[in-house]
Amino acid sequence: MELFEAISKRASVRKLKPVEVPEGDLERILDAGRRAPSGRNTQPVDFIVIRDPETIQGLAKAQSCIADVSLVIALVADPEKSEFWLEDIAAATENMLLAMTALGYGSVWIEGTLLRAESDHKKLLGVPENLRLMVALPVGAPVESPQQAEKRPLRDVVHWERYGNRR
Ligand SMILES: Cc1cc2nc3c(=O)[nH]c(=O)nc-3n(C[C@H](O)[C@H](O)[C@H](O)COP(=O)(O)O)c2cc1C
Repeated sequence: MELFEAISKRASVRKLKPVEVPEGDLERILDAGRRAPSGRNTQPVDFIVIRDPETIQGLAKAQSCIADVSLVIALVADPEKSEFWLEDIAAATENMLLAMTALGYGSVWIEGTLLRAESDHKKLLGVPENLRLMVALPVGAPVESPQQAEKRPLRDVVHWERYGNRR
């Protein structure tokens, strides 16, 4: 899939079903995350690949749709390595979501619900105390045709030369 098509098609998919993810696809998704920009190129973000059904059930306490897939990627960062760790996690997350869209998988950026019990999920995944577990990305097949949420129109978002100048 072409880049701009993937950007347009990427959507938060919360109705998922399990799908076989070949190693080659998984590697392309992880590599897309690894190649994301990183403040001062410190690269403080690591990925955890989770296939164990029991662990996935545990993570589904954050959000039930996680229980519907057989593969989850969690993103972890070390805040002591970089002041930009949060932005770096976001960049890696979006790269992986675009890669998944391009490969035909459905996913959703799970962060808000994960953080409600971050320490429980860290224990489940064996993440050291000093690291942050910020995002979980289920990798599944969309049950319905994915629909990206409605976005503000460009003419509202873009200002020309100075704030407030709209065309
Ligand atoms: C920082 C951040 C945290 C998010 N956390 C969650 C979450 O915990 N659960 C969830 O279902 N979606 C979560 N989302 C997905 C947003 O709800 C979604 O991107 C937004 O509604 C727009 O829909 P779209 O992704 O289809 O464009 C999160 C997105 C971002 C960027």
